[in-house]
Amino acid sequence: MTFTGKTAFVTGAGGGMGLQIACDLMALGANVAMVDVKPQPDCIPSGTGNFIYLKCDLSDDTAVRTAVAQAVEAFGGIDLLANVAGVLWFERDKSALDIDLDIWDTVFRINLKSMVHTSRHIAPHMKVAGGGAMVHFSTIQCRRGDTAPQDAYQASKAGVIALSKSLAIQLGGDKIRSNVILPGPAQSPMQARWEDNADAVKGLSQIIPLGRVGQVSDMSNACLFLLSDKASFITGTELVVDGGLLARP
Ligand SMILES: NC(=O)c1ccc[n+]([C@@H]2O[C@H](COP(=O)([O-])OP(=O)(O)OC[C@H]3O[C@@H](n4cnc5c(N)ncnc54)[C@H](O)[C@@H]3O)[C@@H](O)[C@H]2O)c1
Repeated sequence: MTFTGKTAFVTGAGGGMGLQIACDLMALGANVAMVDVKPQPDCIPSGTGNFIYLKCDLSDDTAVRTAVAQAVEAFGGIDLLANVAGVLWFERDKSALDIDLDIWDTVFRINLKSMVHTSRHIAPHMKVAGGGAMVHFSTIQCRRGDTAPQDAYQASKAGVIALSKSLAIQLGGDKIRSNVILPGPAQSPMQARWEDNADAVKGLSQIIPLGRVGQVSDMSNACLFLLSDKASFITGTELVVDGGLLARP
């Protein structure tokens, strides 16, 4: 795969999977607009491609519009979108029957509406470029229930799939593809609760057919494939990256 001459807009790039995706794209020649609400991390390696880091709250449509304009100004256009940013609030996200409704709305604004913001501001630039590819991050948790419900997370991530399929149909004529990755449990800052709990990771690994939890590189590899020309006939679908967990009874 090569991304030389391409520009990517990667959200969640101050964190686990987004940061890895941004670095891998740069290593393969892309210029990358790295976008996150967090400050720029120290550990961005130099690659063949260049980067700009844009601190932006993606749930704010005006801020996203500005970030997209900054990316276009820096690199001349946008060909690729990785919608990676998301939140899973273990303490506050719970059953729909008793969750604080402000939490519900905030989770939806970050996990789903921010992807509407990026998609609507970036699609016109992809059209100008003659095509493009979008990858949106959901979770396997929206395909199964959980005895400890996180209903805002699950429902917002289910919406990501519906949004992606609709975009795939609407934008296919413009040679713009839209696909979703459904990660299984993966080691990243989102799973900071595992840091002091080796037993939890071990227990989880035992029920995953491939015998381990995911790494950010697993998700980045899948994302880069879907963004690349190797996936040029793939749109409107989901790629499960979970070591076989969903396949289990
Ligand atoms: N780690 C897992 O086990 C796992 C499993 C399934 C799905 N996912 C999904 O994969 C994606 C990446 O997860 P991760 O593990 O890298 O998480 P992470 O917490 O390491 O990174 C997410 C990033 O999103 C950013 N972000 C949050 N709200 C934002 C906002 N309003 N504006 C801009 N940036 C914002 C955070 O600052 C963070 O850097 C997420 O969408 C997550 O839901 C993760």
